Amino acid sequence: MSYDNEIEIDREEKVDAKLWKRLFGYAMRNRGLFFRILVSMLIVAVIDALYPILTRFAIDHFVRPEATPTSDGIWLFFGVYAALVVLQGFCTTRFIGRSGEMEMAISYAIRQEAYLKLQTLSFSYYDKTSAGYLMARMISDVARLSDMIAWSITDFLWCGFYTLFCFGAMFWFNWKLALIVLAVIPPLAVVSLYLQKKILRYQRVSRKHNSRITSAFNEGIMGAMTTKTLVREKENAAEFEKITTDMRKASVKASVLSATFFPLVVSLGAVGTALALIFGGAGVKATLGGAETFLGVITAGTLVSFINYASSLFDPIQQLAGIFADMQSAQASAERVLSLIDTESEVRDTPEVEEKYGTSMEPKRENWEEIKGDITFDHVDFYYKESEPLLKGFNLHIRAGETIALVGETGAGKSTIVNLICRFYEPKQGRILIDGTDYRERSQLWLQSSLGYVLQSPHLFSGTIRDNIRFGRPDADEESVRRAAAMVHADEFIERQPKGYDTEVGEGGVRLSTGQKQLISFARVILADPQIFVLDEATSSIDTETEQLIQSAITEVLRSRTSIVVAHRLSTIRNADRILVIRSGAIVEEGDHETLLKNGGYYHDLYMHQYQEDAMQEALK
Ligand SMILES: Nc1ncnc2c1ncn2[C@@H]1O[C@H](COP(=O)(O)OP(=O)(O)OP(=O)(O)O)[C@@H](O)[C@H]1O
Ligand SMILES: [Mg+2]
Repeated sequence: MSYDNEIEIDREEKVDAKLWKRLFGYAMRNRGLFFRILVSMLIVAVIDALYPILTRFAIDHFVRPEATPTSDGIWLFFGVYAALVVLQGFCTTRFIGRSGEMEMAISYAIRQEAYLKLQTLSFSYYDKTSAGYLMARMISDVARLSDMIAWSITDFLWCGFYTLFCFGAMFWFNWKLALIVLAVIPPLAVVSLYLQKKILRYQRVSRKHNSRITSAFNEGIMGAMTTKTLVREKENAAEFEKITTDMRKASVKASVLSATFFPLVVSLGAVGTALALIFGGAGVKATLGGAETFLGVITAGTLVSFINYASSLFDPIQQLAGIFADMQSAQASAERVLSLIDTESEVRDTPEVEEKYGTSMEPKRENWEEIKGDITFDHVDFYYKESEPLLKGFNLHIRAGETIALVGETGAGKSTIVNLICRFYEPKQGRILIDGTDYRERSQLWLQSSLGYVLQSPHLFSGTIRDNIRFGRPDADEESVRRAAAMVHADEFIERQPKGYDTEVGEGGVRLSTGQKQLISFARVILADPQIFVLDEATSSIDTETEQLIQSAITEVLRSRTSIVVAHRLSTIRNADRILVIRSGAIVEEGDHETLLKNGGYYHDLYMHQYQEDAMQEALK
């Protein structure tokens, strides 16, 4: 097992402003919501900054250290104070609710975009990208980002308004004392940023290990059978232990640093309070008859408000440091998600084609030419990896209505030829013509909606058997569904199911055997009634008896259409108009069944071999 692809190299990331601007753009799509959060935060922050002013007022008006205390107007004061508390509480619940809404809105917008993208990406993308990777991007990365963005916005607004008001009040009361107290801010900011970054780095390492653990679990569960049969339990357990130990170390480091961080910041903040007390205290003495200092006269109330401000100033700083550090650590997630959204499909329609034939979301069917099904490979070169060329100058002409069979050893390139016809991949060199036109001059949907494809490992979608048969033609009536199923003799096993056509197939069709899945996907294609048929080992998992039964149906279905059949079992392709033997991406023999048998080449040997095997099995029955 190797999890290397799950781990990225740790790097010092600078906050990429452009990237975040784009992500914050998702939040700005809902301006109304943003504005409401802004107003709530403004009120909450202003009230937070007002409390020390109220305290100042209370001391200077009711306590009056330099005169006799009085209680004139104390009820009004109490009323104002209470009203502010209630208003702040109300706004707090509002902004919490709104931010949650914002979070949902952001993840909805990103997921929507990413999902649409995934629908349009070509096969080659899915070759290179695992489903697990995509799921992780779509689920956890997006959740993390939207949570972060939504709450950063509220935090950021609060910090901004709060500091602004605190600074304003302090400068208003006594600008000299304000300057002295605020001298602690720069070192506070530097320390916060530095430590926060370190903490996040360890948290990140620990998260990474966590994702390795998840994938190890995943592999352990998915591969349980293989592990058992290959007796790999011990090695797997050892690998797993190493990962969990790494994770524990990183988590402990992060916790220790966090534990140091808070007291350190609080102590630094206390220096500000001390400065206020030392210098402000001297100023207060002046009001009580002492010598006047360079700060001028300071009332006791002002001093207390300064102390309050000084001791709460590290709060916004710490929060801002947190936001920046968070952005740094989430940057990798952000890049991954945005790069998914930005991925360009390798197979895509040109703007001119989209203009004429429409997109997959909005096809312009009225402009589509009817497909006859004439297919030509014109000097096609193709490879999956550049270093391993597969097709070189490949030529083939399939006439409309013709049935072509491809045979050859495993890995010869049969499925590749089929994938090229379906335009799941495109030629690297040369052209593929459908009815005489390069298929890149038409839309993908134009071709693919006339194509019926039954795969070696067919995919069913969760839902009922009926839903699956109707997948390509959701409006088909019950009668047609049953007719299609009956044609491939799928009706027999379907009716044996307790719920018949209403049987749930499970995710990906797990509750059915491969052969049953093949029968259903066969019925699906027959119902869709396409002009070009592609059967790639479509009957490989169907037992010989059923296969013989559906053989006549296949022959019937294929008669008037262009069809390409890949099969290992040669009995299924005897009736093909032309049989091509493929080896290393080239046609080495070509002709109908009789001709190829007479030639005595690869096909002849293969046929004889299978024939003997079949005869043997017959005899053993
Ligand atoms: N998605 C892919 N990415 C990279 N290489 C691939 C991919 N699909 C196939 N190949 C390689 O291309 C070659 C031809 O594969 P292809 O699937 O066309 O063979 P095939 O004739 O259909 O074999 P089989 O009879 O086993 O289905 C093989 O060497 C295979 O390893
Ligand atoms: Mg194949």
